This record gives sequence, structure tokens and C-alpha cells, in this order.
Amino acid sequence: MIKIQAKEKFEGEFELPGDKSITHRAVMLNSIADGEAVITNALMGEDCLSTCQCMRALGAQIDIVGTTIRVKGALKLKDGQELNCGNSGTTIRLLTGLVAGKGIAVKLYGDESLSSRPMKRVAEPLQRLGAKVETTNGHAPVYVRPNRLQGDNVCLEIASAQVKSAVLLAGISADGKTSVTEPVKSRDHTERMLAAMGANITVENNTVTVERSELKAIDVCVPSDISSAAYFMALGALKGRTLCKNVGINETRTGILKAFDKLGVKYALLNRRIAGGEETADILTEKSSMQAITISEEEIPAMIDELPLVALLCAFADGESRITGAKELRVKESDRIRTTKELIQNIGGDCEELPDGFIIKGKKSLIGGKVESYLDHRIAMTAAVGLIASENGGEISNPECCAISFPDFFEKLGVKI
Ligand code: S3P
Repeated sequence: MIKIQAKEKFEGEFELPGDKSITHRAVMLNSIADGEAVITNALMGEDCLSTCQCMRALGAQIDIVGTTIRVKGALKLKDGQELNCGNSGTTIRLLTGLVAGKGIAVKLYGDESLSSRPMKRVAEPLQRLGAKVETTNGHAPVYVRPNRLQGDNVCLEIASAQVKSAVLLAGISADGKTSVTEPVKSRDHTERMLAAMGANITVENNTVTVERSELKAIDVCVPSDISSAAYFMALGALKGRTLCKNVGINETRTGILKAFDKLGVKYALLNRRIAGGEETADILTEKSSMQAITISEEEIPAMIDELPLVALLCAFADGESRITGAKELRVKESDRIRTTKELIQNIGGDCEELPDGFIIKGKKSLIGGKVESYLDHRIAMTAAVGLIASENGGEISNPECCAISFPDFFEKLGVKI
């Protein structure tokens, strides 16, 4: 349990940890590339450390000093490994695709939460390419055996960067062309990094096509994660003024800013620049009075991990908000429709669950209370924002789960864990 005190004001300048999605990809792709790479401002969250451990087990040389990771790729991966992916959906899904055409047998497994998440969505498109991938009743452990892959066109029913990336990473070891089409474009870090590493890749609207490719190692300077900055941006909007420095603003990730526009949150993107192939900015957010919003399916992928926080902001906004088309939230680290609703209700807000989202009636102020994190990092961090902005503050269970994506979250907030 951690106690969170309500604050009248929340102000400051913040350096946030490196982007989780980009760190995973920089480690994985450099681990199978020719040469050596230095990854700076890498995220040292538990999920990315799971990726580092898996890539070491597969034969890459990985040295970590502070937030710098040095990677020397393994051109031939080690056979017969059992890869512990911990809590990380990105690790297990991307790696399943990456190893599928590499001529090795591998078992991929994870913790209780990861073992309850759907894996057929990765296994089926990979099987279409000829991969020998078996799940355990649709879940982890996942077993991959060697087979030659043949490119094909894959059409995804859901927008998922993890599934898209798994197909692309298999596609670079397949004969012919492999293409993957999504209903709505999800985050595109895999495509960008593959292109920067010399892969044969093209992007047209929501379709990405790859051919067999040898990758060349590249240094990656990781921008700070907008998904981590979002908590501090929200505190600026609710309680004062925050400046989040060097945040990645890739347009497949900035749905939170679209939500801010609709809510009426005052923010500015300062010092916009390109760093490491990704656009970054310092984000200044100021106290704003907010009005109710509607968010629908096509807007969801660009704010998928920020939806609990967006729902929380709606609980402080004037009027009734509606978020729909977000049933993917049910299969994240927790069932985030249920856990977000419970979070909002437990701190005194009014939130109703829909099969694919929420209806939230905003209130001027919320009283605070006890929140169960369900060991879900995004629920714990959203709860901290809600409690700081509440009248009386409260408590959060198992706050250490923040280490999945943001190890020093509470320190940055100024709260002792
Ligand atoms: C991620 C993709 C998202 C996101 C996850 C990280 C990634 O999942 O929720 O936290 O790095 O590819 P989906 O796009 O598969 O929904």
C-alpha cells in the first residue's frame, strides 16, 4: 500500500523515462542485426529488462550501464531456449514472430497476467506464413519450432502494433513478400526502425510490406515515453503547470493530445525537433477547466495505453463523456475497463462500464479513497493522479508494479514508496 496525499497545486519540470515500445524494438532488432549498437535513454522498466534477458538467452551480447544498452547482435540464434517474458505482452508477441523463421525451437512463457492474455492473435497470422507456432489453449506458453516461411498477405481484424510487428519480424525471414493490413494504423515504431536498419519495407496507408532482409545495427537515442509523460501532463491540467521534456510525439502515439483538444486542456508543444528518427517536443500543460468528450473506435489505437487516464480526466470534466470501441482494454495487463471503472468509483467518481468502453459523468471534485491496482502499472499510476487531484487523497495497493514501465514514478511525483 502507498499513501497518496491530495495536493492543492502540482507544478514542475520533468524528465521522463525512455519510450517502452522503442526500447523493446531497439534491443530486439539490434540483437539480430549485423554489428554493434548503443541505445541511449533506454527504459530500464521490467518489461524491457525481460526483452534484454530473452535476447541474451538467444545469443546476443547485451551490456547495460545506467540507461545505456550496448548490443552486439547474434547472427545465428541459440536453439532450444526457454524465454521468460515476465509481464510483457510486447516481448512475447514480437519475439514469437522474430524467432518463427529463424530455424530454432523456442518456448516463450510469462507471469500469471501474461499467461491470461490472448496469443492466438499472433499464432494464427504466423501460421499463415507457414510458421510452426503453438499456443497453450490460446495462451502462453507458446512453442515455436523451425520451419521455412513463405510471405503472404495478412489482414488483421484488430489494430495491434504487437501483432503487426510479429508478422513483420517473421516477414524479414520469409521467402517472397509479406504484407500486413490493419483496420486503423497502430504505432509504427517497428516499421520505422526496420527501414532505418536497411530492411526492404514499404508502407502504404494501413498496409506494411516487407521482404527478406538482413539488418544493420543502428544506434538509437530513445525519446521519453508519452505514455509515461501523460500522468504528469494530466496533473498539469488538473492542478497547475507541468513541463515534460523530450517527449516522443510520433503521431501514432499522440491520441492523448487529441483527447486534450476535445477536453479543452491547455497545452503547448515546445522545442519540436527530430531525434533518432522520431519527432520529440517539450510538452507544457496548464490548469484547465474541462468539458465532456466522446472518443470512438478509430481514435483508440493512438491512445490505447492512456485510456484509463483519459477516463479519469473525464471524471473531472463537466458533463457526460462516452468512450467506445475500446474492447482491447479488456485484454491488457488487467481488464482495464473493469479496473478503471472501479478506480474511478472508489475515489468518488461516476463511471459506468460498457462492453467496449465507459460512460463517465464528471464531477467538480472527487473525494479520494482506496484503489486496488490489480498489479497493473497503468492503473496504479492513473490512481496516483486521481488521488493527488482529489479532496482527501487515499491509498493504492501494490504500487511497485509501476516498475514495469516507470521505475521511479513515485519518486518523480514526490511520494515515498
Ligand atoms: C505496444 C502496443 C500496444 C500497447 C502496448 C505496447 C507495442 O499494444 O498497448 O503497451 O510496443 O507494440 P497493441 O497495439 O498490441 O494493442
